[in-house]
This record gives sequence, C-alpha cells and structure tokens, in this order.
Amino acid sequence: MGVDPCTSTQTRNNLSVPAGRTRTRRQSCATEASLTNGNGNTEDHLPAARTNSSVSPVRRKSNIVKEMEKMKNRREEKRAQISEIRTKRAQEYDSSCPNWEFAQMIKEFRATLDCRPISITDPIEEHRICVCVRKRPLNKQERLKKECDVITVPSKCVLLVHEPKQKVDLTKYLETQAFRFDFSFDESSSNEMVYRFTARPLVETIFEGGKATCFAYGQTGSGKTHTMGGDFSGRTQNASKGIYAFASQDVFLLLNQPRYRNQDLEVYVTFFEIYNGKVFDLLNKKTKLRVLEDGKQQVQVVGLQERQVSCAEDVIRMIEMGSACRTSGQTFANASSSRSHACFQIILRRRGKLSGKFSLVDLAGNERGADTSSADRQTRMEGAEINKSLLALKECIRALGQNKSHTPFRESKLTQVLRDSFIGTNSRTCMIAMISPGMSSCEYTLNTLRYADRLLGSFLETVQLSERMSNSCHKHSGTLNLDRFPDLVLD
Ligand SMILES: Nc1ncnc2c1ncn2[C@@H]1O[C@H](COP(=O)(O)OP(=O)(O)OP(=O)(O)O)[C@@H](O)[C@H]1O
Ligand SMILES: [Mg+2]
Repeated sequence: MGVDPCTSTQTRNNLSVPAGRTRTRRQSCATEASLTNGNGNTEDHLPAARTNSSVSPVRRKSNIVKEMEKMKNRREEKRAQISEIRTKRAQEYDSSCPNWEFAQMIKEFRATLDCRPISITDPIEEHRICVCVRKRPLNKQERLKKECDVITVPSKCVLLVHEPKQKVDLTKYLETQAFRFDFSFDESSSNEMVYRFTARPLVETIFEGGKATCFAYGQTGSGKTHTMGGDFSGRTQNASKGIYAFASQDVFLLLNQPRYRNQDLEVYVTFFEIYNGKVFDLLNKKTKLRVLEDGKQQVQVVGLQERQVSCAEDVIRMIEMGSACRTSGQTFANASSSRSHACFQIILRRRGKLSGKFSLVDLAGNERGADTSSADRQTRMEGAEINKSLLALKECIRALGQNKSHTPFRESKLTQVLRDSFIGTNSRTCMIAMISPGMSSCEYTLNTLRYADRLLGSFLETVQLSERMSNSCHKHSGTLNLDRFPDLVLD
C-alpha cells in the first residue's frame, strides 16, 4: 500500500504546475514526461514508468493519503485557532507582564477554587510541634517587575505552589503542588494573626516550667525579621508589632493573673546572634561569647547578659537596641538583610532559678546555605555553616517530635545553644516557614516548604496536581485527593 508519489507532500512542495492545469494536476503529473520545478528548471528524473501515459491510468487517492491530508488540514486549522486565541488573550491581558500566560493560567485556576482563608475565630489545636507557612505580599520591586504571584492559599491549612514549566515543544504549563501544614497564612494576614496561631499557644508552656521555641525560616526577603522583630516602614522597624513584642506582652499579662501573680516569678530577656558559628551578645555591644558544655551536658553561653524587664515597654526597648546591633547586609532580595541567626529569649526565674524559657529565633536566610558556590571563601564558609545549622535544626526538631532518646544538638552552634529546647517532656516548638510569592522565588519557596514538610517526618500531605495547559486553551485538570484536603474545594 504505497503513497501516491505525485501527491506526497514532498512532490507537491517541490513541483509547480502551470496555471490552467490545476484541476487535473494529479492525473497529469503522472503523464507528463517532465515537469518544471519551482525554479523553472526541468525535472527529468521521474521514474520511467511514470513518464509513460499508456501505463499510468488515473489512480484514486488512497485512504491513507486522504487521512494524512485531513490531519494536515486539522493541524493547520488548530494552529490558526491557537494563534488567534493567543493574540486575543494577549490583548485581553497585560501582555507587558513577561509571564502573562502563566499569570492568566493561575488566575483561571484560582477562579475554580472556593478560597476560605484563616480567620481569627478558627480553633487552635495544641501540638508539641506546630509547622505553619506564611506568604508575604509581592513587594514594590516585584510589582514593578510585574512578577507573577505563584502561591495560592485556599484554606487555613493548605498552600498551593504553581510551578511554571515548559515542555520541549514550548507548551507552557503549571505544575501545582499542594502542601498541608498546621496553619497557612496568606498575604493579607497580619503579624498579630500569625502570632495568635503560632507563638501565642506556647506562652503558657513557660509558666508550666517548660521550654518553648518559635523559629522563622525562609529565604532572604521572605519576611522573617518582619514577622519576628516587627513591621518595617521603609528601613525603620516597628518593634511593638512583631512576635517578640507580642509574646512579651502576653508574658506580662499572664504574670498578672491570679494563678501566677504570687509565684515570685521574674522576667529576663537575652538577645544574641549566631554569625558564622560565633555567638555575639546584642544587648552588650556585640560582645563575642563562648559556648561551653559542662559535665552534666548543660550548655552555657558564658557572659550572656540577661536583662531584667518589668513591663512590655522595657522589652520593646531591648528589641530595638538588639535589632540595631544585628549584622546586616544587602542581598538580591532584601536591602536590609539579616546575615545571622538571631535569638531573643524571654526567661522566667523563680528566686534566681530558671523556671521557663521562650526562645524566638529569626534564622539566617536558607538560600545562603545553598547557592554560594560562585562566591568568595568567606561567603562559602558562611553558607556552609548556615547549611549545617539548618540541617542540624531539622534533625533536632524531628527527634523532639518522635521522642527520640538521642538529639544531635552538637552538630551546630545554633542547636547547641538551644539544646534545652529540644529535650524534656515539656518542650514545645513552632516553625513558621516564610515564603516569597514571586515566580522568580519559586525554587527557594519549594525548598522552604519541603524543609518545613519534613520537620514532622512525613511526606504524606504533599500532593501534585496535574494542571497542564495546552496552548490552545488553558485547561485545568485537578486530580486532588480530597480525602487528604477536605477543606480545599475545587469547583
Ligand atoms: N507580611 C509582610 N507584609 C508586608 N511586607 C512584608 C511582609 N513580610 C516581609 N515584608 C517586607 O519584605 C522586606 C523583607 O523582609 P524581611 O527583612 O523580614 O526579610 P527576611 O526574611 O528577614 O530576609 P533576610 O534573610 O534577608 O534577613 C521588608 O521590607 C519587609 O517589610
Ligand atoms: Mg531578616
């Protein structure tokens, strides 16, 4: 079953038939001894059999040829349709946005969701380890660059990352991954709201003789210092609007309640940073401190100043003083980037004896531990130290969650200093994973979310939504397991 050579694409493309002969082109091409090609040259190389009109009856097109022609026509029609749709969409949408097609797909996807973000009245469950995620709004720089927001928070526990992808044939599509955490906060959530569901439930722990720890984790510019230390307006920070201050206010509130009023409790604060494996006292002119472990495995930060405080205003002054001392620099995403882990502690003492401790930690940007291969030696060392401490932190939190007898706290200065937070039956931890919503941060965001996801040692709650977009229409096919995401409603 051969394809009629006269109607094969190649033959048709290469040969041009003189005007007036078009209707009988297929018949005549079989009978002509020679034809002129597109350049006007004579084609003499056709097989001899085909040059003989007496042996070449008119042949009907085979079904395959007809099918191929139909397919070709359909393909061409589809292409025309696609290009028409794309032009129309480009006109409808802001095509000056470099990734308008992805933005459009995400917009359409969001339209299929019934979003119910977290509300102040939502109940708070008590967990030994609580893992939350906070998405910040696009900042001015990102808006100027018309960055596409690739994060959706459809409900109080779920967060979706729409990862832009491209096939080899250049078809653009989104790969959406869903993550479930204890709480997820969208860009409209305030610091108060985040505090209410994360650090606030831990305040009482320190009045019950326990250790509480709250970490802010994420890439540079994702909002760790904004959340912990207070809102920024330009470069000035409002220290009364961060988790450090909110927690201190609640400590004094509880202290004045009848239950704790007569317990002889005194409140102290410390503030230090860990930079390149070294500890510096932020409340004492950045004095370098030594970390020593005694015979009973008690870790001591020698010389760390504990300042007694008697009201929330005292604490705010300390936060301002310490924040001003903190090592800072500039990164690609943050003009005033903190370059260290900062730890603010609220300590309760009864007649001098430690009763409870709340450590609030603003971690160094996780991206700095990852991609410093091209940087100088100092930066590489810095990155390696950060990497080591974040990995050790993850292992220590997991050990706490699984009640393991061994906690690998000696792996880094950070975990060594926080050793007592990871042991004991009355220790509670909260991790807030901060993420930037822009498309250019997508890879860092996924790394942050995977890190947070693994803190609980489970991968169960992460699913992938296949959401492929053909060029012709931006169709979405969600294959979400709703059993695992009962609060996510897809139309
Ligand atoms: N939730 C938010 N709402 C409004 N602006 C925010 C929010 N989170 C962060 N920002 C702004 O983003 C910028 C960077 O935030 P921040 O300094 O807290 O980042 P970071 O995670 O501490 O980064 P780095 O690791 O570089 O120190 C700040 O100008 C801050 O005001
Ligand atoms: Mg910071």
